[in-house]
Amino acid sequence: MSTPSSEAAPALRADVEHWTNDAVAELIGERAVLALDREQLVPARLAARAAADDPIALLTRLFALGDTLSVAQVARALPTLGVQGAAASGLIATAGASDDDPVRALLDLRPYETETHRWWIASDRGEAVTDARLEGDHVLGVGGASLTLASITMRSPVGRVLDLGTGSGVQALHASTHAHSVVGTDVSRRALEFAAFNAALAGVTLDLREGSLLDPVAGETFDLVVSNPPFVITPAGAPSFEYRDGGMAGDGIVGSLVSTLGGVLNPGGVAQLLGNWEIRAEGWEARVSEWLDASPVPLDAWVVQRDSLDAAQYAEVWLRDAGVIPERGRVSFDEAYEAYLSDFDRRGVREVGFGMILLRRPASGGGTSGPTLRRLEFLEGPIATPLGPHLVASLAAHDRLVALDSAGLGDAALLETRLTVASDVTREVYGRPLLVDPEHILIRQGGGFGRAVRADTGLAGFVGACDGELTVGQILGALSALGVEHANELLPAIRELVETGMLA
Ligand SMILES: C[S@@+](CC[C@H](N)C(=O)[O-])C[C@H]1O[C@@H](n2cnc3c(N)ncnc32)[C@H](O)[C@@H]1O
Repeated sequence: MSTPSSEAAPALRADVEHWTNDAVAELIGERAVLALDREQLVPARLAARAAADDPIALLTRLFALGDTLSVAQVARALPTLGVQGAAASGLIATAGASDDDPVRALLDLRPYETETHRWWIASDRGEAVTDARLEGDHVLGVGGASLTLASITMRSPVGRVLDLGTGSGVQALHASTHAHSVVGTDVSRRALEFAAFNAALAGVTLDLREGSLLDPVAGETFDLVVSNPPFVITPAGAPSFEYRDGGMAGDGIVGSLVSTLGGVLNPGGVAQLLGNWEIRAEGWEARVSEWLDASPVPLDAWVVQRDSLDAAQYAEVWLRDAGVIPERGRVSFDEAYEAYLSDFDRRGVREVGFGMILLRRPASGGGTSGPTLRRLEFLEGPIATPLGPHLVASLAAHDRLVALDSAGLGDAALLETRLTVASDVTREVYGRPLLVDPEHILIRQGGGFGRAVRADTGLAGFVGACDGELTVGQILGALSALGVEHANELLPAIRELVETGMLA
């Protein structure tokens, strides 16, 4: 499989300038857009074919829908780069030079937009387009995990960023919007060639380096490391892919990153990554804590498990993702499924968790004031997109509380503080209709992680009074006067609401 030449980028950029997601949606309509979300291409193909020689329709058909066009149609879609230029730079294959000769794309290319930026991402063509199993060195386009990592990344202005396992370079492009310089690494030379092409198309400079894990950046340090690593657990006997299987046993690649990333972080630097972890009898927190404890550099850590699958479900999901399905050859599916379960059973793995990991090197560099945060929690359900701003605010709130504690002010300072309930927080009251007092009160966060905190009447009353007028101490005093017992014991719960962004 070929990779595109970056020399084609400026001319191609001129041809794709108006090829936006909105333009495609307008062309193919809502039904086809929704079908594309389900990886069904037929409705979009029908709609785009109906648009005849519209350049947006032709670009979409050629590069995103796997349609074969004629030379004349490609000439219309790529007036600046031209058919010859596109063929010479590895974007298309033509069967001849006559107007009617067929042309097909050699890669997938599609618009990718954020609120502030518009890029185009080239990658290998997916299964939905080729209807064939992926090659082992497949270079992935923007997938669900890519979007999750992009959403959770904290986008404060930073100096140096490392995108480890850059693939098509999508995280590196995001990083370029708030970093002074960005290094992208990958074991796959093909992936780096795609990343270079995408960067050239975006007009962004990336420092791209080939190598495994931290090898290409030995001796260097960063303010932010992002990684959507190849975290899929694949036993011997099951198909593996460079883009999703790190080549280490079990969940070794994620463990290795968690234990070593601290060594490339500047003081105050942050690493954000996604991962799978194996869950044995001791629970998921034990597994992740083992990795955190193995880091020679003491780190703050905030790990959120978002989901878990039992060993059999996990095997099914990733075999299906690899295109190994019962209908395509029962024996190989069963054999690969067995390989998964024998591997998991042998190592006592009952479930596999999925989630996000945030590591931070204390600003002191791990010296006098070491890590202050180790938060491991299981939070399912919808979360805010982007989540990065919420993480920034939560860490800042945590740091403010720690600063008060270390100044010896702690609770005394909190009692003097005026808090305001965040605008996305609501109160839900549940109880049987005939009961005067509610049985359950939930304080629910609309944004962030969408947390729901069970509150007694004291805590609910406290939150209800947080309009920024009275201090924490004054509200607790008023609650005591109203007969709420042990109002001062609410302080730990209040701190938690501050750290999680429900009280500001
Ligand atoms: C899941 S893809 C992520 C691609 C891209 N960063 C994204 O978010 O869409 C993982 C990438 O890691 C690369 N990779 C695999 N093993 C690696 C290793 N040992 N060190 C560095 N990169 C690796 C793969 O080639 C692939 O490009």
